[in-house]
Amino acid sequence: MKFAFSEISLPKRGSLAVAIYADNAFSPTAEDVDKKTGGALTRALETSRFKGKKGDFLEIMAPNGLEVSRVILFGLGEVEKLGQTDMETLGGSLVKRLNTSGARSVTVILDELNADEIKTNEAAASVAAGAMMGSYRFQKYKTDIDDAKEPTLTRMTVSCKGSATARKAFADQEALVEGVFLTRDLVSEPANTLYPQSFADRCLELTDMGVHVEILDEAKMERLGMGALLGVGQGSRRDSRMVIMQWNGATGKKANRKPLAFVGKGVCFDTGGISLKPGPGMEEMKWDMGGAGTVTGLMKALAGRKAKVNVVGVIGLVENMPDGNAQRPGDIVTSMSGQTIEILNTDAEGRLVLADALWYTQDRFKPEFMVDLATLTGAIIIALGHENAGLFSNSDELSEQIFEAGKAVGEGVWRFPLSDAYAKQTKSPIADLQNIGTGGRGAGSIVAAEFLQKFVNDVPWVHLDIAGMAWSKADKPTVPKGGTGYGVRLLDKFVRDNYEGK
Ligand code: BES
Ligand code: ZN
Ligand code: ZN
Repeated sequence: MKFAFSEISLPKRGSLAVAIYADNAFSPTAEDVDKKTGGALTRALETSRFKGKKGDFLEIMAPNGLEVSRVILFGLGEVEKLGQTDMETLGGSLVKRLNTSGARSVTVILDELNADEIKTNEAAASVAAGAMMGSYRFQKYKTDIDDAKEPTLTRMTVSCKGSATARKAFADQEALVEGVFLTRDLVSEPANTLYPQSFADRCLELTDMGVHVEILDEAKMERLGMGALLGVGQGSRRDSRMVIMQWNGATGKKANRKPLAFVGKGVCFDTGGISLKPGPGMEEMKWDMGGAGTVTGLMKALAGRKAKVNVVGVIGLVENMPDGNAQRPGDIVTSMSGQTIEILNTDAEGRLVLADALWYTQDRFKPEFMVDLATLTGAIIIALGHENAGLFSNSDELSEQIFEAGKAVGEGVWRFPLSDAYAKQTKSPIADLQNIGTGGRGAGSIVAAEFLQKFVNDVPWVHLDIAGMAWSKADKPTVPKGGTGYGVRLLDKFVRDNYEGK
């Protein structure tokens, strides 16, 4: 889909989307359209339940007096309260309604909103960004495409005053959405095509955008002592990899600043290993690389919009398989940190991958902070469902910054406690650590986070458990079902608001 911006004027063709405010108050353009159509809007509203609320839509086909093929009324509710996510939702909802309707183009007109939170031309950019996000489809494996059901909408024009500013704001957001799309693509890709080396190859493509990409193979990781990560991958026919992506966008005095670090769990498929998972639903474990997918999409977004920061993304890529060579329950491995780990359940593998990825990252880069993302525990879904990611941290300041960024972009996080009492549960009687807690099913997500913290020294750190967020079974206006791309917009906002230009 193509996006354009223009000053306000009624289009000569295609569809026209016009705003109605709370209690069916007409926007200036609605007023104009109503007059030109001899009161078609007024009459349509009289016979409908449309009340001008956010999320209300009403279509009027081929109205007399206008050249457009249809007018779509959209409710905005109380305009002064509108924010970025409302406008994105509007864009996504419009695409959903029009995409397969036969409409080829739509012009969305936004009169001056006077909203407290958002300028009208920024709102226009957000409508387009939301539409772009909502138009995403993962269709590469469909060969039986039914033309009658294919999208018809190819163009959206958003009209507002100061459209040049909207166009510029959208260019930035477009780069961000391209990052979200990469994450969705990676997460949706099945494990027979997306495995550690092929994932690493996808990362290499970011080189063209100025990202410096290194790939560590198993021999290199062995030399570095990454026994925790390598143990997870040893049952797979696919060799493990670690990918290090660096974007050095900081300039002038900030050019030599310590990088911000993002670390991702990239389990390309999680069978559970010898502690095999039950069969039903196991196909979902193709997206157990969601954390790594988010880190990769974030790197693309930051490079795409040429963010003025130094960032490093590190992802640990493995496949967790049962095999004659697979790791056994009871095995003891030595991590890069030197700490030994007794493996009591081979299905608690994400923390083993992150243990070496986190240690390597802080050891090599001495970063400003580390944020890791992982589809780490089923328990986080029991606690938070699919509405928020779990946040665990040793830093109140970072936690607050990420919480605020999440609120702003509609990708929520909720903080959980950490303490020595939980940490104690990770002590093994015969090794330094064990990979599951002694407390049975209690506090599974927290104990997992405590395990990770054993591989974090003094550096400020946040762990985001995104097991409930990386995949969606429900269509939402800006997030079609499948891989969600959760976290890319959250962390882009977090970086933008707190570390760029400062
Ligand atoms: N990849 C899973 C966690 C997961 C579950 C992600 C459901 C997405 C949806 C993880 O590796 C795992 O298996 N965790 C175990 C830990 C347990 C063995 C301590 C779990 O959550 O059951
Ligand atoms: Zn597992
Ligand atoms: Zn897993």
